Amino acid sequence: MATTDDFRTAVSLEELRDRGRTQVSVDGTPLALFHHEGEVRAVDNRCPHMGFPLSEGTVDDGVLTCHWHHARFELACGDTFDPWADDVQTYPVEVRDGEVYVDPNPERERPPAEHWASRLEAGLEENLGLVLAKATIGLLEAGVDYREPTATILDFGTDYRDSGWGPGLTILGCLANVTDDLAPEDRKRALYTAARRVASDCAGEPPNFDQPSLSTREVPFDRLKRWFRDCVEVRDADGAERCLRTAVAADRSEDELAELVFAAATDHPYLSSGHVLDFANTAFESLEHAGPEHADDALAALVEPLVTADRSDERSSWRRPVNLVALLEDVYGGDVTETEGLEALVAEGEGSNWSAPEGFRETLLDDDPGAIVDALADAVREGATSEALASEVVHAAATRVARFGTANEFSDWNTVHHTFTYANAVHGATRRTDAVEPYRGVFDAAISVYLDRFLNTPPAPISEPGANDTGREPGDVLEDLLETFDVEGEVNEAGRLVGEFLDCGGDPEELKRTLGHALLREDAGFHAIQNYEAAVRQFDLADERPDGEHAGSVDRAFRRRVPLIATARYAAAHFPTRREAEQTFTIAARLNRGEAIHEG
Ligand code: FES
Repeated sequence: MATTDDFRTAVSLEELRDRGRTQVSVDGTPLALFHHEGEVRAVDNRCPHMGFPLSEGTVDDGVLTCHWHHARFELACGDTFDPWADDVQTYPVEVRDGEVYVDPNPERERPPAEHWASRLEAGLEENLGLVLAKATIGLLEAGVDYREPTATILDFGTDYRDSGWGPGLTILGCLANVTDDLAPEDRKRALYTAARRVASDCAGEPPNFDQPSLSTREVPFDRLKRWFRDCVEVRDADGAERCLRTAVAADRSEDELAELVFAAATDHPYLSSGHVLDFANTAFESLEHAGPEHADDALAALVEPLVTADRSDERSSWRRPVNLVALLEDVYGGDVTETEGLEALVAEGEGSNWSAPEGFRETLLDDDPGAIVDALADAVREGATSEALASEVVHAAATRVARFGTANEFSDWNTVHHTFTYANAVHGATRRTDAVEPYRGVFDAAISVYLDRFLNTPPAPISEPGANDTGREPGDVLEDLLETFDVEGEVNEAGRLVGEFLDCGGDPEELKRTLGHALLREDAGFHAIQNYEAAVRQFDLADERPDGEHAGSVDRAFRRRVPLIATARYAAAHFPTRREAEQTFTIAARLNRGEAIHEG
């Protein structure tokens, strides 16, 4: 029965007193009502953990205990004793003339955006997957721009992980980069994935205590850069952090900050299988989403990975049977940390317009490291920008993934993956700074492509544009593609379907959305997420490259399809997973929508 105010009749007091509890639906809201210690209490009947009916719980000494996973709630206010379960919503009650009245739509103390922002912080602090799922879904559904929670997660990840930038923050940056490429529901999955991975990275870790910037703001940039590189070289984290924070505090430009970081990140080749430079690139990209005011802590978080990095010039595979490091040092200026040789080549090429010569692409994928280094050095001498060269090398690296032979050891998927994402990060670095140091990243990536050559034996085929036009409806091809991720081992079929979709006139944006959905419904690992982001980035950047008018340059259509084929094959090799995160996400979405999960 409706009343003149917001309260609605729910049950007679006598009936409730006799039964002790009851379950009612008031204006569509499922409620559990309790008569306990002489008081009437009303809570949402769906346990905030996973929806079990709380009317079937136990009430004792003012505490309501859910019978499913035994989460406990203070009955009067709904706050939980078990943060993993989240607080339960309570509702105002009144007793009038022997009838219990409930207000099913009480005014909330805080607007939804504020409420969910606070739950996001709680979820990060306690590493609570379900709370994070509800908070990220709630925030985006409340109309909050993804940049706000992205900044919150970024701050949390840099504050509470002494070991600095890691996979969680990289996932955050990667998924922020592809937000526009995803379907609206998958944007929520992306934010949830990033939040739970950052929270997981920080759980149990000591927090980070900042080293302050130097008091002076007068240090010339070149000197600061030299100090920073020297500190990183001797693995002095404190000194390096003070230099880096000083550069930020002195309002050095984004170009200069990039020059500083990428110089140190390329002073030794292929640091930690490429992860360090990839972290650095993602940190700069994250600032584009979260805002430059986060630069101080975000960039300082790179110091630990830089000073603890594994240096590939110390690996035997870079020394024997061919001394690859020596080949690089000849070009760089006698040592891997030098740039004089490169500077001379750049000076020679000044004013020239480089275009890839005949056979350039083949040389990058061939098995002669001397020829590869010579081809790159000649290109610099002829005026090739670091960005143009990086673009060619990242295409070669994507080709290695697209052609990865499935007879190889499974773990070697990550060998070609690391080279691809490293080359993609180098490409990103070259787009941020014209400094000479990132050229070294291009050469190092090309050497890594060379080292991966046996993983393309025999090479998986990549169809040429137009070769796979079956005339089918592109939508049907996409459905088949999604199905390949439901079963193991459909690696080559996934690659073929990408080619078929494009050849049948399918919209690449739909393909990106579908691949993004395939990724985010899985318990996708750090690498799968990186791989997808790099592929999407390279697809988009292909438009900026020459369209085959130069003898050695790659046809644009081919340049675009290779990374998407590569990432579809990589995904097919790693999917399906158990999809546990998706289960949590689905429950959270249904709870947020007010749906009953389990009928009592
Ligand atoms: S504790 Fe209630 S559903 Fe898990």
